[in-house]
Amino acid sequence: MNPSIDFDAIARDRLPALLRTMPKAELHLHIEGTLEPELIFRLAQRNGVALPYPSVDALRAAYAFTDLQSFLDLYYAGAGVLQTEQDFFDMAWAYFERAAADNVVHAEVFFDPQTHTERGVGIETVIVGLEHACRRAHAEYGLSAKLILCFLRHLSEEAAFATLEQALPYRQHFIGVGLDSSERGHPPEKFARVFARCRELGLHVVAHAGEEGPPAYIESALDVLKVERIDHGVRCTEDPALVRRLAASRVPLTVCPLSNVKLRVFDTLADHNLKTLLAAGLCATVNSDDPAYFGGYVNDNFVQTFAALPALNARDAWQLAANSFDASFVPDAQKAGWRQRLDATFAAAAASG
Ligand code: ADE
Ligand code: ZN
Repeated sequence: MNPSIDFDAIARDRLPALLRTMPKAELHLHIEGTLEPELIFRLAQRNGVALPYPSVDALRAAYAFTDLQSFLDLYYAGAGVLQTEQDFFDMAWAYFERAAADNVVHAEVFFDPQTHTERGVGIETVIVGLEHACRRAHAEYGLSAKLILCFLRHLSEEAAFATLEQALPYRQHFIGVGLDSSERGHPPEKFARVFARCRELGLHVVAHAGEEGPPAYIESALDVLKVERIDHGVRCTEDPALVRRLAASRVPLTVCPLSNVKLRVFDTLADHNLKTLLAAGLCATVNSDDPAYFGGYVNDNFVQTFAALPALNARDAWQLAANSFDASFVPDAQKAGWRQRLDATFAAAAASG
């Protein structure tokens, strides 16, 4: 906590603008989840892919999800239009333009190579296209962008090992590995050996856990996969001992409020447990998950969640942004630079009321 900022001097009606302008890191973003319906149609046309929807509006109208799987079915189908390096570049570049406008200064971006290699797209096409966009984001916006390769947990550990082998020639282009897709019935321990290998290789390790799955999956992600961050993790509040453990260890949770409502983890944003997580001392962050499918990018997540949860205040806004830097996989000196910018933003807001 930064004692030199007078958070109480910041009027509540100034919060939406402050949430938008404050520098922040995005740590839970699936690049395939940034494919807007317009871009899906453009890429389908470019690549001669037939879509089962007559229009952009008809596709968007299909985004009414009942749970994680109902979303994943559409998300994997949407990703089917991606075929060339240029497609992957265009998708990622469109995201970085939006992220820069949201004052995201650092993004650790998930990608799902198996979604593409299973369709015959080479892993080099995926990684090189994405990496090119990351480099341009840094050059044009000063936005540092890093890639995290996710294994699909509904597939086997052998398939994850094969994907790791295919990716290793491009090792310098990704900083870590994650675990995503259908959570229920696919506990973290299914991937114990491949995560051990990734740790040996010096890769950072994260995993989705406690989104739809039980708190026990958060514990096994920590104990078996030895992850450095938990993606989602919101179901931890069902287990008070686990909440105490997460608070003491400061293992970050990358929380995605709009996603949680769209996928029915919480009925409404007003029911979300973000304030509870912060009040318990957890290193929670706010992120957008699959913004093209869930109705908003990271600033929409911040602004809508603060509007729905009146208990969230200026101190929480600062804490969430500070947590996003603390939780990122960058050297301490880089974190310190962003923290200074963050503190300056809040000090100026406090000085002007
Ligand atoms: N893949 C993309 N978004 C996901 C989510 N919210 N949970 C699990 N896997 C995902
Ligand atoms: Zn996710």
